[in-house]
Amino acid sequence: MKRNGFCIWLTGLSGAGKTTISKKLIERFKEERFIEAMDGDEIRKGLSRDLGFSKKDRNEHNRRVIFCTKLLVRNGVIVNVALISPYRETRAFAKTEIPNMMEVFVKAPLDVCIERDPKGLYEKALAGEIKQFTGIDDPYEEPLEPDLIVETHKETVDESVDKIIAKAKELGYL
Ligand code: ADX
Repeated sequence: MKRNGFCIWLTGLSGAGKTTISKKLIERFKEERFIEAMDGDEIRKGLSRDLGFSKKDRNEHNRRVIFCTKLLVRNGVIVNVALISPYRETRAFAKTEIPNMMEVFVKAPLDVCIERDPKGLYEKALAGEIKQFTGIDDPYEEPLEPDLIVETHKETVDESVDKIIAKAKELGYL
């Protein structure tokens, strides 16, 4: 049976909770739908393994994800993108390319992300050992009009996931 595909695009700082939310979303849908994750760290091990973190490279990396997501969504797959995707212009481009895309701002204050530091990268960035780290010495352009904001320092993962599913229904994607 043909189903409507759509894209849940999670944008936000490293450590904001994109991957955690993504994993829960996949759990919720996997019994009933085809669903695929496009996680920044994972894609960077394969499709984007030649790319770094300059503006040009991030945009090229995001563009590749947009391309693949478009192919999947138009064939009925739910695609859950989890990328910092720091540039507004790139996210706006994604919206023009991908049918049924909802932009979700996974929001947590920078100091909370630094405190969480799940991969120890903020510590390295603050010590100057990693350059061009988002939020430290590289920009993050917050969404001005996202479809949804989830605030991971105030909500549980399940609450954020429930909000995302409710919004997908409201938008007519589910
Ligand atoms: S994006 O900016 O190109 O959209 P993406 O989500 O793919 O970012 O990758 C971010 C992940 O790469 C982070 O979660 C972190 O694990 C790792 N990383 C390594 N170096 C950097 C950096 N300079 N800036 C941000 N993330 C980095």
